[in-house]
Amino acid sequence: MEEGADFIRVTPPASPAHWQAASIHTYDDHRMAMCFSLAAFNPAGLPVRIEDPKCVAKTFPDYFEALFSLAQTRTSAIPVICVDGPTASGKGTLAAVLATELGYHFLDSGSLYRITALAAMQAGLSLDAAHEQAIADLVQSLSIQFTEGRVRLNGTDVSDTIRTEEAGMNASRVSALPKVRLALVDLQHGFRQLPGLVADGRDMGTIIFPEAALKVFLTASAERRAERRYKQLISKGISTTLPSLRADLEARDARDSSRSVAPLKPAQDARLLDNSDLTVEKSVDLVLDWWQGKQPFSAI
Ligand code: C5P
Repeated sequence: MEEGADFIRVTPPASPAHWQAASIHTYDDHRMAMCFSLAAFNPAGLPVRIEDPKCVAKTFPDYFEALFSLAQTRTSAIPVICVDGPTASGKGTLAAVLATELGYHFLDSGSLYRITALAAMQAGLSLDAAHEQAIADLVQSLSIQFTEGRVRLNGTDVSDTIRTEEAGMNASRVSALPKVRLALVDLQHGFRQLPGLVADGRDMGTIIFPEAALKVFLTASAERRAERRYKQLISKGISTTLPSLRADLEARDARDSSRSVAPLKPAQDARLLDNSDLTVEKSVDLVLDWWQGKQPFSAI
């Protein structure tokens, strides 16, 4: 490296063998972030982390989005974190916060089963084995769009419709049909894009992304989960009772765990996290620590 009055000149190592994975301090300097991001094209194919990447906001707020839209890499090189677990364990919240913190994409796979159930019912198909093929065929024709926290099915905003307890139970019914699960695989794989993905569901670590570098299986006691769901629904003005909620979520867990394809269970290499007595922040910090531990460069 050569330092001048108003510049630094960085010359890359002469041979790939001399490159090392690194995490780059940007010192709130947009030029540091943008210049060093080019080191990600190193001939050794080693990872580079740019710390505080949002410092590019000063001159080029969408710099990384633009870079990732142009850059290509092997799909297997795109990092994935899986967050699986039972109903109302807080997976959705944990996964969404992790995705925001890391600047990664987010896959809410449960919403795909919820949307499929809704579309099937709109098409007049009952959610049972007799209509398995018809529902699987229907999946291929659906237009599903996730934008700005909302989800559209064939152009109609269904974000609220798919969030009810009934929609969850219907999702659980269609999700037990093997052909429907198969029909949704490519759609889920499509979410694996640069710079990375946090995937939330039941079979992310076991079936959809079995090679993911970090798999978290999130649990909480049935009592805690029912309480959380109760508070959520009451705050939205939806009346319900704790015992009925608990019975519903236990029924859904039982169906999800006992089905023959992709049953709800931790992957063999999953890290178990019981968040019954943890705040969201604590769970996020813990998982970010685990993720840091998976990186080839250490925290500085
Ligand atoms: O996570 P969420 O509650 O939205 O999921 C709704 C239902 O969709 C679950 O109860 C489960 O039956 C099904 N599902 C699944 N596999 C996934 C995600 C959800 O079978 N990866």
